[in-house]
Amino acid sequence: MCEVIQYIAFFAHSMKTFRIAVFASGYGSNAGAIFEYFKHHPSIEVVLLLSNDPGAGALNRARAAGIEARSFDYEQISQGNVFHWLEEFEVTHIVLAGYLKLVPTSILRAFPDRIINIHPALLPKFGGKGMYGMRVHESVKRAGDRETGITIHLVNEKYDEGKILSQVSCPVDINDEPEQIAARVRQLEHNNYPRVIEEWILSGLGKR
Ligand code: GRF
Repeated sequence: MCEVIQYIAFFAHSMKTFRIAVFASGYGSNAGAIFEYFKHHPSIEVVLLLSNDPGAGALNRARAAGIEARSFDYEQISQGNVFHWLEEFEVTHIVLAGYLKLVPTSILRAFPDRIINIHPALLPKFGGKGMYGMRVHESVKRAGDRETGITIHLVNEKYDEGKILSQVSCPVDINDEPEQIAARVRQLEHNNYPRVIEEWILSGLGKR
């Protein structure tokens, strides 16, 4: 009897309404913040972490959090294996958290307005192909901007060009080194991305 109840509890838990797959290429600090935020959420759960880099720290973070983690190569994403994993896990929404590749058209079409990304600057400034990591913060410093921040946006077929859902800014001191700017922006990301993901999903903007 006890086993039956456990089974029902497990099934109910595993079938939360909204099921996120996180794509990450690197360290995975944002992925970690997202796992933590949704750990006990009543209707949203992270079910999958996918990475194009088998050495990505994000994979280990997911495994430590009890989330299925898989890496894939170019063939696997271009030939549909990754798409099948998304079907297998009944994923409803995709969250990019430091994913450095373009999302293939087949996945974009299957998840219209249901893929979100975060960029560590105030788009349209300091965005586009090749603008990631410290390059972004070095460019902010070089430009002499007195503020920077984060942009959370929907994903389309171009780098950093989808509809903007939220921007949050922070000051830049003239004496800041790029590393200091990066640390401030990283904190903004962790404090805001999970909440904006939740609002996006629950508002229905990203609903099927
Ligand atoms: C973050 O700065 C995010 O804005 C960008 O990639 C970085 C990922 O960092 N898209 P992490 O791997 O989550 O630490």
